[in-house]
Amino acid sequence: MITERAPAKINLALHVRARRSDGYHELETLFAFVTDGDMVTLAPGALSLTVTGPFAAGLSGEGDNLVLRAARAFAERFGTSVGGVFTLDKHLPVASGIGGGSADAAAALRALARANDVAIDDPRLFEIAEALGSDVPACLLGHTALGLGRGERLERLDGPSGMPVLLVNPGVAVSTAAVFKAWDGVDRGPMPDGDVLALALAGRNDLEAPARALAPAIDAVLERLAAGNPLLARMSGSGATCFALYATAADRSAAAATIRADQPDWWCLETALA
Ligand code: C5P
Repeated sequence: MITERAPAKINLALHVRARRSDGYHELETLFAFVTDGDMVTLAPGALSLTVTGPFAAGLSGEGDNLVLRAARAFAERFGTSVGGVFTLDKHLPVASGIGGGSADAAAALRALARANDVAIDDPRLFEIAEALGSDVPACLLGHTALGLGRGERLERLDGPSGMPVLLVNPGVAVSTAAVFKAWDGVDRGPMPDGDVLALALAGRNDLEAPARALAPAIDAVLERLAAGNPLLARMSGSGATCFALYATAADRSAAAATIRADQPDWWCLETALA
């Protein structure tokens, strides 16, 4: 049996630069990963998927999970037989801007690569990833990176590994397509130069305004995070999950304790940058 972690991704910054004629948007985004997430296991056998964990119910209505699509695409690309008994232990909220489904698909591809003696940096894996979704290549890389194009063109960067992070989600699922559609079309400019933390601090998430209009609960999350002495508090991806970065783990835990006491129904994860 092969086990692969599927860490949550956060967009430290996400600049939307233009609408494209293919329905996607041209981005400059700073991807980072945290040390916690979902878990994918793979055992030999006919293709199947069992979902467990605290957010398993969020996927129960889903006919074609990205893990199964990844397995079929892998078999087609590498000429292997379609198969794999997959278990997905779901710890990340669904449709929440931290790449859960993309991370799961990337973890499935890594597990299949290991099972079939395919190198983890084989370009064919990245081609499959790109076809599965805009964030899947970044999740396959699993490293801090600048994402260009629709997010699939990646430049690896060194990030502030170990920095304390708090992730907070108010329990509202947000459609990525709907948030992109609601973007106002204004190009607010490129990513500045500098190291990853400087980029993050000087950057923006251009999807914050349209996501807040669609899911006003995000306002309350960002307010609470801003009140807790963070270095930075921002929405990730198309929301509704927001993150905060802290100078110390004590600052993170104090902020988490306050938010948990005030909003016991919100999902709140104390973690760190990978
Ligand atoms: O690539 P993925 O299927 O994850 O994207 C989901 C939706 O988000 C797309 O159908 C598109 O509406 C929107 N999107 C976009 N521009 C991007 C990435 C995603 O408009 N760069």
